[in-house]
Amino acid sequence: MSVRRLAPDHVQPASFAFDAANENWADGEIAKYPPGRQASAVIPLLWKAQEQHHGWVPRAAIEAVARKLDMAPMRVMEIATFYTMFNLQPVGEHFVQLCGTTPCALRGAEALKKVCEEVIGPQSTVSADGKLSWLEVECLGACCNAPMAQINFDYYEDLTPDNFRELLDDLRHGRPVKAGPQNDRSCSEPLGGGETLKDAALYDGTVIGADDWQARIADQRKAAAEAAAAKAAAEAEAKKAEATPAAVEAKPATETAAAGRPKPSEASQPSSAAQDTPAANGKVSAAAVKESAKPAAPVAGKPEAAKTATAPALAESKPELLTAARDGKPDDLSLIWGVGPKLATMLNGMGVWHFDQIAVWKAEELAWVDARLTGFKGRATRDDWISQAKKLSTGWRPESKLGDKPA
Ligand code: FES
Repeated sequence: MSVRRLAPDHVQPASFAFDAANENWADGEIAKYPPGRQASAVIPLLWKAQEQHHGWVPRAAIEAVARKLDMAPMRVMEIATFYTMFNLQPVGEHFVQLCGTTPCALRGAEALKKVCEEVIGPQSTVSADGKLSWLEVECLGACCNAPMAQINFDYYEDLTPDNFRELLDDLRHGRPVKAGPQNDRSCSEPLGGGETLKDAALYDGTVIGADDWQARIADQRKAAAEAAAAKAAAEAEAKKAEATPAAVEAKPATETAAAGRPKPSEASQPSSAAQDTPAANGKVSAAAVKESAKPAAPVAGKPEAAKTATAPALAESKPELLTAARDGKPDDLSLIWGVGPKLATMLNGMGVWHFDQIAVWKAEELAWVDARLTGFKGRATRDDWISQAKKLSTGWRPESKLGDKPA
């Protein structure tokens, strides 16, 4: 890691401003980010400043970018000095970044460094004619063509001291040069051409049976359609099976009695299971107790009586329900994990509006609600709504709906 400092004052320009074209370009970059986030464009703007200022970033450009992005100049300075792609010293018209990492070193990078010193001069200085400068850098990702160098925006690979010296001379004198491998190979193929995958049949389709491709695609489409139909039938069957118990539970009390449940006259008597209910505690009238034997239907304007509404074997007990939110201010039930807008509406329809209602449910009351969550049966138990509601009823709230689970 080298120390990265700004160039000395005597080479710093007095001022910097984007030219009209770059100013427009910079505005376009800034517009890609939301209001207040314009600092996100700092790297592209520094890069454009470097491009405009002959390949290096002077202090005045750093300050101009800071003004443009409404950032503290020190913040922009930190970025410009951290990323080595920003040159803080003047560079030559052709800036040579010579790779000195192991693969290139093993393939002769040391000899190329000597060429740079002879032809250009010391590292990080510009040649007297202003045409060339060089810097040793870490791996540039072209190790298979080692040794190599990046000169401005192009890679030059398979370098030798001779072809490198010639390349630098051509650049210095403005002669055309060829980027990429400097020997005869194509890209990163073996020297002298490829030695594998040479069979022409690999490329005319015969190996993969391309001659009957239409028949194969038709077969694949048919198989996919059959699989989709089978899946849809299985899902419909599963839905049907799930809906059947719900229909049984929703039957009127007279039907459930016939199936062996307590008779209406028995059901209206307080049972041991009903001792914990609000009705048993005198919160509601006897009429409300009778009403609780029906499927869930809140009593207008009053707290709903709780009573076992299903067979004792199901261990369900109807919880206290409301006809409307207290003071017209329902809690946001969707803060309970597992409750989305649809379930929140379903709960409100039952008479559940507040966290503190859910927080006091017992297991059998949770089971009563769970059995009536059409399409979501079992979710209240599975997601432990009671624990979640207990925490939410204390006033605790997550940072957002995607934040922490209440319990
Ligand atoms: S080591 Fe030189 S390009 Fe990777």
